Amino acid sequence: MSSALNKKTVEDLQVAGKKVLVRCDFNVKMENGVITSDKRIVASLPTIKYLIENGAKVILCSHLGRPKGEVVPEFSLAPVAARLSELLGQEVKMAKDVVGESAKSLAADLKDGEVLLLENVRYEKGETKNDPELSKKFADLAELYVNDAFGSAHRAHSSTAGVAEHLPAACGYLIQKEIEFIGGALENPKRPLVAILGGAKVSDKIGVITNLIDKCDTLIIGGGMAYTFMKALGHNIGTSLLEADKIELAAEMMKKAEEKGVKFLIPVDNKVGKEYAADTEAMVVNSDDIPDGWMGLDIGPKTQAIFADAVKDAGTVIWNGPMGVSEWANFASGTIAVATAIAESNAISIIGGGDSAAAIQKLGFADKMSHISTGGGASLEYLEGKVLPGIAALNDK
Ligand code: 3PG
Repeated sequence: MSSALNKKTVEDLQVAGKKVLVRCDFNVKMENGVITSDKRIVASLPTIKYLIENGAKVILCSHLGRPKGEVVPEFSLAPVAARLSELLGQEVKMAKDVVGESAKSLAADLKDGEVLLLENVRYEKGETKNDPELSKKFADLAELYVNDAFGSAHRAHSSTAGVAEHLPAACGYLIQKEIEFIGGALENPKRPLVAILGGAKVSDKIGVITNLIDKCDTLIIGGGMAYTFMKALGHNIGTSLLEADKIELAAEMMKKAEEKGVKFLIPVDNKVGKEYAADTEAMVVNSDDIPDGWMGLDIGPKTQAIFADAVKDAGTVIWNGPMGVSEWANFASGTIAVATAIAESNAISIIGGGDSAAAIQKLGFADKMSHISTGGGASLEYLEGKVLPGIAALNDK
């Protein structure tokens, strides 16, 4: 695979002795102020360590949650500063504000190799509006800008895009890695390229399916959205999830795949339940045989075998979205089967963020995957073939 990145990277900047503003995605999961997954913090370490080792004055910033321009204490990044200090083995100073007096004076006093974290950028009303005044204030804190927030690269906000207009701007190692894997799989994959798409709604994945039909050899559809495809084939789907206004589109996509010689696999059998509940009465039925009053909640065993077989000889696998209601033990086996098949294959494996990444972590397969994206929405938009504003804003090589 070759990297699709034509942007300057952190190594193209002269960082020694310079104040470098680094946009990270520290939008981590928290419960009662305690970080429950530090994956995104860990993923940001290579860039931060590079900057420390090369004598930069490091000013980190990120959003956390959606405080909508208000100072909401539960969205403070202070717990992230504490965790980052532990991981780096050095103090991470915490500013009391984003671009105010505290941020300005702490940034001005930084010594080479020191690290400062600004408060949640979404405490500022202008952030999500990409307000030029706020972008300028971010830029005034530093001399160089590095964006390493892949998870937020689909947002054209002040700290992800606007600020890059004012400073020499490059990407960090995390964005570089995400582009190398996802971009590489889209542009120059080791074949056959197999894409597995799940999740509840066709409407969430239309863009991805449309883009991937032109690129992959096999397209596998599971999860709630598969039932709209089954309906398009004329099957009775009982009370399964249906997007009636997408039936025609589903039929068109299957036709397009056929015309292009792309293998398009949808479930041939399903585990159906009486109602949408973890402990509902359940049974396995073929896809052309879902009885009235029953709903599909997972792929069935025959489908698991077919999907696993398609993955076995893949050169590259891209997976995004669970095969069923994977948070319920009774309806998790389809997702587990797909995760296992990917883990056992020799394919380059790329896992989209969100639920599929969580399933992989839970099963202990994380180290068997080539790349687990730190982006949810961002990786989806990238798979859709969209330009990500946070990357587009950076300087070309
Ligand atoms: C994410 O978690 O997907 C990113 O951090 C972006 O968050 P947002 O959807 O609130 O912009």
